[in-house]
Amino acid sequence: MKFFVDTAEIDAIAELNALGMVDGVTTNPSLIKKSGRDIIEVTKEICELVDGPVSAEVTATDAETMIAEGRKLVEIAENIAVKVPLTWDGLKACKTLSDDGHMVNVTLCFSANQALLAAKAGATFISPFIGRLDDINLDGMELIEDIRTIYDNYGFETQILAASIRTVNHILDSARTGADVITAPPAVIKSMINHPLTDKGLATFLADIKAADIKIL
Ligand code: G3P
Repeated sequence: MKFFVDTAEIDAIAELNALGMVDGVTTNPSLIKKSGRDIIEVTKEICELVDGPVSAEVTATDAETMIAEGRKLVEIAENIAVKVPLTWDGLKACKTLSDDGHMVNVTLCFSANQALLAAKAGATFISPFIGRLDDINLDGMELIEDIRTIYDNYGFETQILAASIRTVNHILDSARTGADVITAPPAVIKSMINHPLTDKGLATFLADIKAADIKIL
């Protein structure tokens, strides 16, 4: 499973990247706003930091302008994936940009039908939003399962990029379900390591090391 970090915060990306935990990065207008930085500048810096795909989202809603924005974004670096919303204009932009050989991440996906359309439009990645479905008492993980089944039924190469991940269980269930990628906030990825029995066991080992004066160096 590939881990993408869902943030535009350079330091947070660098910290996880140093641990080998960053296979890519996803940003969106809300994350760019949160960073307080210019989209082109911060995206360029992220592309220089990580080798994997870096998703940068268009700001337009009409296909012609999305395509123009996408063609500008891909000039930033070879690992740019242009992010477009799941609308007919977004799918038209996806088809054009993917036919041009560029990576496209189709975002704001909330149904399997939408994911089917994105795959047929040549999307490199589809971003189903788990957390936002859970927020309205629907089952976000069920969407991941449906998309996995449909893509496997017909051999679609579009990668399922599970997004809107709020908990470590979203990551675990996405892995169980066979999502190709998860994109999560740095804090959620970091919290995957937590377990009280690990802490308790290490404390016991340290106490015994001290009591027995065990030395290696
Ligand atoms: O990549 C999409 C993600 O940033 C959305 O997450 O928590 O705003 O639904 P969230």
